[in-house]
Amino acid sequence: MRLVALFTLLAAAVSAQSIQYDESRKVWLLNTRVSSYAMGVSPEGQLQHLYWGGPLWRIADVPAASRKEDISSFDPHEMLENEEFASWGGKRFYETALKVTRADGDRDLVLHYQSHHAEGDKLSITLKDIKDDIEAVLEYRVFAEAGMISRRALIRNKSKQAITIESAQSATWYVPPGDGYRLTYLSGRWAAETQVNREPVHEGMKVLESRLGHTGHNFNPWFAIDRGEANEEHGSVWFGALAWSGNWRISVEQTPYNQVRVTGGFNTFDFAYPLKPGEQLETPEFYGGYAANGFGEASRLLHGLELDHVQPQGSTARARPVLYNSWEATEFNVDEAGQTALAQKAAKLGVELMVMDDGWFGKRNTDHAGLGDWGVNPQKFPNGLGGLIKTVNGLGMDFGLWVEPEMVNPDSDLYRTHPDWVMNFPGRPRSELRNQLVLNLAREDVKEYIFDVLDKLVTTYKFRYFKWDMNRIFAEPGWPEVAADAQRELWVKYVWNYYEIMDRLRKKHRNLEIESCSGGGGRIDLGVLQYVDEVWTSDNTEAFDRLKIQEGFSMAYAAKFMSAWVTDVPNMNGRSTPLRYRFLVAMQGALGIGSNLNKFTDEDIKLATQMVSLYKRIRETVQFGGLYRLLSPRTSDTTANEYLLKDGREAVVFAFRHSQQYNTEPPTLYLQGLDPKAVYQAELWDGTLMEKTSGAYLMQSGLHLRLHGDFDSTAVLLHRQ
Ligand code: GLA
Repeated sequence: MRLVALFTLLAAAVSAQSIQYDESRKVWLLNTRVSSYAMGVSPEGQLQHLYWGGPLWRIADVPAASRKEDISSFDPHEMLENEEFASWGGKRFYETALKVTRADGDRDLVLHYQSHHAEGDKLSITLKDIKDDIEAVLEYRVFAEAGMISRRALIRNKSKQAITIESAQSATWYVPPGDGYRLTYLSGRWAAETQVNREPVHEGMKVLESRLGHTGHNFNPWFAIDRGEANEEHGSVWFGALAWSGNWRISVEQTPYNQVRVTGGFNTFDFAYPLKPGEQLETPEFYGGYAANGFGEASRLLHGLELDHVQPQGSTARARPVLYNSWEATEFNVDEAGQTALAQKAAKLGVELMVMDDGWFGKRNTDHAGLGDWGVNPQKFPNGLGGLIKTVNGLGMDFGLWVEPEMVNPDSDLYRTHPDWVMNFPGRPRSELRNQLVLNLAREDVKEYIFDVLDKLVTTYKFRYFKWDMNRIFAEPGWPEVAADAQRELWVKYVWNYYEIMDRLRKKHRNLEIESCSGGGGRIDLGVLQYVDEVWTSDNTEAFDRLKIQEGFSMAYAAKFMSAWVTDVPNMNGRSTPLRYRFLVAMQGALGIGSNLNKFTDEDIKLATQMVSLYKRIRETVQFGGLYRLLSPRTSDTTANEYLLKDGREAVVFAFRHSQQYNTEPPTLYLQGLDPKAVYQAELWDGTLMEKTSGAYLMQSGLHLRLHGDFDSTAVLLHRQ
């Protein structure tokens, strides 16, 4: 007994220490609540990856880094070793994390361990070239409770000559040596973002990336790797998310030596970042985690990290208010009378934040003009926005405003005054998309202009919220005003300045909240989540389509960030689903309404009011709770999700059936995460109380719901007794 107690004590003490170091063998062990990660220095001085998986409590178990034997003159030992942050040099012909060219043309770089420094949950390990004073400082941060770690690198040129960085990655991750792995990733396009893909990892390389200037609709910077057999509840999953809203790249590489390495950071496409002596480049954070209990646990770990550590206000952030946005109802036809009428109707439904979308500024009557001229349109708002905002506030709602500050229409005063502010290659075409051009936000004057525009709007009108949009990808990303070798810094500096503006705005206006939108879900990643409160998930608001978009979104991002609107039918692809179905789909994220409220019938108003008030009761559970994806729209005619409040007091289960055939019953929902010993009172979405049931029964025998016909839906609240 006493021995057991001692062991438990010891284990607790060890696991409480998030960073351990064994000086004699030069091994580090990073510990989180659910995982451990280890690396060490080889006798040659190479930093090698040693372990990533379930929690270890004994650093002595981790074998020290060692030098492998060459297999042949074609397979040198460097190719066989799992170098933690390899640079291109010597005999390393795989995807390395750093590649440079010196001013004199020398391109060889071999990094060896130099020193390290640990403080609290942070560790930095400095690697240095074997000859020159070029360093990579690897920064690790352990989020012990959240069960995650983060990594990034600072590349420092302390040498006497200039260098150009051609590849700067944040980190390389290794899953245990072997094959038979499977990659899960998110891909899509405009109005069809974050679709889940699963495919075997074969020898060779798979690249997920954006070359578009922003995060992109096509791929999202998130990955998960399992042994080919994990599901939502079971199996080992290694996963990561890159915090960058510009050109990014994640490569997944299986070598002939049974290594599987995932390397991510700045996209190497068109990348060249000069560093003069004394300068440094910081790469974005790359967060990584290991879950023993399937994709569900992997998502919950990442959600917890975002909510507690990534988002601007961390765990003190408020739940997202219910929002109304008139875009789909009015498009560009906004004016004080129309917005006031909608605001009055929205307030009656229980809406808390009224957002006026595109069309309120400059000569913005269509998407052909106005972007860049952020003065209030005098025809639409003869008295400015003050009157409308006062009305909205008087109705008990906050006010929010749509902006797209990085863009300019050629038909605008801004473009006529500053044609040079647009990214361009002199004398070559300036390609328009949606009739607009992209300002070169890498420029300091453009950054200051955008900050001033936004700052003045909030200072003048004291509203609560910006919906910050970005409605096109880059083209001709030239920056002719700077030296030729500095022009490609645009890819990186653009994003830093975008972040800086939001950071300064938030510091100056403490109550200000920001939504990231880019033609729907084009700018969603852990980088932007450091500065915004929610994101616009997709311009596709069709409820059935949304189920798959939202499922993919939930793999990587918490429901609190997932803006989801109820809109009118028939929607995007001509489909009509019942209003209740549309509400319940949207209530799985941050609920908004985008319908034309002028067309709502009395019955619609009654149902909408009931749903908004139900949402307010459950939103803590949805937005901050643990998500269990019970049935996937990819594999079942029924989609079901369970959200469980942290303390287990309340759970909410949503279920949707898109097509019932042959009078069959919907699948049983086996709930997860409940207390088997507790008794739960079930309540249907309309308030009907059902029988009381134990957690054990709900998880083992399941919840049997009635879902009949096409697009039937329901929600069940479970209150622990
Ligand atoms: C983008 C956004 C929409 C809306 C329009 C306005 O498409 O994603 O929600 O704001 O722009 O032009």
